Amino acid sequence: PKSHFTLPSGDTIPSVALGESAPDIASLTSHFILIYAPGVWQAGGRELGEAVKIALAAGYRHFDGAWAYRNEHDVGNAIVESGVPREDIFITSKLWNSFHAPEDIEASLDESLSRLRTSYLDLYLIHWPIAFKKEPYLNGRIEIDEALTADPYPTWKKLEELVDKGKIRNIGVSKYENLTSNPLKYRPAVNQVELSFGNPQPELLAWAKLHDVLLEAYSPLGSSRQVKETLELPIKIAKELGITPAQVIISWHVQRGVVVLPKSVHEGRIRENFEIVALPQEDFDLIERAAVSKAPQRVINPSKEWGLDYDIFA
Ligand code: A2P
Repeated sequence: PKSHFTLPSGDTIPSVALGESAPDIASLTSHFILIYAPGVWQAGGRELGEAVKIALAAGYRHFDGAWAYRNEHDVGNAIVESGVPREDIFITSKLWNSFHAPEDIEASLDESLSRLRTSYLDLYLIHWPIAFKKEPYLNGRIEIDEALTADPYPTWKKLEELVDKGKIRNIGVSKYENLTSNPLKYRPAVNQVELSFGNPQPELLAWAKLHDVLLEAYSPLGSSRQVKETLELPIKIAKELGITPAQVIISWHVQRGVVVLPKSVHEGRIRENFEIVALPQEDFDLIERAAVSKAPQRVINPSKEWGLDYDIFA
């Protein structure tokens, strides 16, 4: 199986990363309007720091986080304490919705960099295809910035500038279907989306391959409500190959040409999720055919909480 993919910049990106959103993030709707409050996530954070160290020992060199997870300091501390050289590690962070205005981006990036204890990110993504106005957000309310949501070109231009400044090596998006019709200096290298057995998005994958955009799969085993059911599907193939159902599914993702971001804070699973195999073609085809969209497709869909009068995924 592929241990890395290559980005348009020529950088390589490890095909399996440790996902870092807080374990119960999907159930915490307040997450989406909470501003940074030190201490809020510390219990989860200590657990995450341990998970990062376990992952590094198991061979992971790719960590997928975000400003909004509010645990980047735990990741940064764990990486520094591990002694693994920074240049051996691929670090992703994401620009939160409330900082899309060009004049707000660099300060937010700098905050992520300082919490992660690094001078550059390997990959910086626009977290959602939607822009909030900053001030109401910082006061606990959400107002949509219609202009920047309709065309994030100014946001993207600022990100390109930060690439040229050396603070970011690659830029991309998350959950996007359309970025802008303006000409770009650097095209999005990555689109991070929900991809799983119950939401395989074959059309999006085909489009991404055609346009040389690498897809990254969050919730690759399905949402926490779907994981148990999802892991029952490949039991037979797993037994035949002598691996676990989770390993079948993660291997399937990589074989589809997708970066996988499994999330776990348990040592056994962290190790398990990193051990991928090359599936025999007939097993791959079987899984590809069995993967069909089922409701609920989206683990996280905050459209209502954000007061949108439309479904962001519709
Ligand atoms: P845990 O952290 O207890 O291991 P998400 O949709 O947010 O990515 O959630 C994925 C869920 O799948 C997590 O709650 C995680 O729980 C669980 N999980 C991760 N890896 C495995 C695995 N190999 N086997 C079973 N469950 C897993």
